[in-house]
Amino acid sequence: MLIHSAAQLLTLAGGPQRGAGLGRLGILPGGALLLRGAEIADLGPTPELRQRYPHEESLDASGRVVLPGFIDPHTHAVWIGSRAAEFEMRLEGRSYLEILAAGGGIISTVSQTRQAPVEALKAEARPRLWEMLRHGSTTIEVKTGYGLDTPCELRLLQAILELDAEGPWELAPTFLGAHAIAPEFKDDPNGYTALVCAQMLPAVRDWWQANAPGRSLPFVDVFCETGAFSLAQSRRILETARTLGFPLKIHADEFDNLGGASLAAELGAVSADHLVKTSAADIEALAASGTAAVGLPCTPFGLAERAYTPARALLQAGGLLALATDLNPGTAWCGDMQFAIALGCRYMGLTPAQAIAAATINAAAAIGRQASLGSLEVGKQADVLILSVSDYRHLGYRFSQNLVETVIKKGRVLAL
Ligand code: NIG
Ligand code: FE
Repeated sequence: MLIHSAAQLLTLAGGPQRGAGLGRLGILPGGALLLRGAEIADLGPTPELRQRYPHEESLDASGRVVLPGFIDPHTHAVWIGSRAAEFEMRLEGRSYLEILAAGGGIISTVSQTRQAPVEALKAEARPRLWEMLRHGSTTIEVKTGYGLDTPCELRLLQAILELDAEGPWELAPTFLGAHAIAPEFKDDPNGYTALVCAQMLPAVRDWWQANAPGRSLPFVDVFCETGAFSLAQSRRILETARTLGFPLKIHADEFDNLGGASLAAELGAVSADHLVKTSAADIEALAASGTAAVGLPCTPFGLAERAYTPARALLQAGGLLALATDLNPGTAWCGDMQFAIALGCRYMGLTPAQAIAAATINAAAAIGRQASLGSLEVGKQADVLILSVSDYRHLGYRFSQNLVETVIKKGRVLAL
């Protein structure tokens, strides 16, 4: 199929974009893109491609922007129930960490999620994934973390794998057994940490090898935060996971600066996420590492907080910045990368071009998939969006409306 005559074809070519290099969209005005099967086979000026492929089925993109599908590299898309009452409590003055310490927050979602069989987990997550796809997310990282015991965590992982197989989206799974201290270990966080290390991580590896043979291991993530896992506990979990061969991620500096970002850099994590209260030293450590920094602007927005990821400082230091939604029932029930881009432009100081690169090629790097996803280049997977607008800056500029007109996943135009 030949997509032709795009007002702007954003290639994002050339690999992940560090520091001041962020925002190279690689624009081809009047560009065309040839898809063959699930891959991009050619691209260039429309007259040239038309001449080369005169008999190809064609899709007219005139007056429209064509760009790679968004990659959402941080979500908690599988859970049961809602926390609307907590939203109201926060508006009345209680803080997120206060509610968590009182046994609410993540633990309240855990109580609801633990009851659910795999089919029920999938049934609640599936409409969220459709909604995300409609808004342009063609690849989505999804975490477990609302089970906090081995059987339920494995059910969550199974739900993620089965939803991935259903498609048409593509999911990147993450094991987040260290999302909160399980209620049974309320007064013994070291005991729960030991359980994660000695029992859960080996169980996840064995389960994975039996249920997803040949597929690379999921990420292991930890919520390194006051009221969740300390820096020492996070280190124990991540070091154990690394020894078992898992690639790593971390939730760091969402509310307090515990040093999780530097830990991620030291351990060679694929990404460190949130990074709101990150210190200058942590920013330097991240920027000097291969670890991607993932900003989640829907989260402070969802919590009505003022502080956002200091993107400019991260970029000045030379860091690799990505954007994600953080879709979850507590802090940000939003799976719309267009809204994350709009917030990134306003509260993280990004230009639309920077935010788009952070949501595509750099977001691919934040899940280790930059070789096949995140840009429109020959040989890469044909995950493509066609917008209803002719200027890419409408992403960021506009909000609360869906500018994605057509979603193409693995070369297939989706009926959404
Ligand atoms: O990324 N911080 C930890 N996890 C989520 C919140 C999850 C929840 O509250 O259910 C986050 O903000
Ligand atoms: Fe999160």
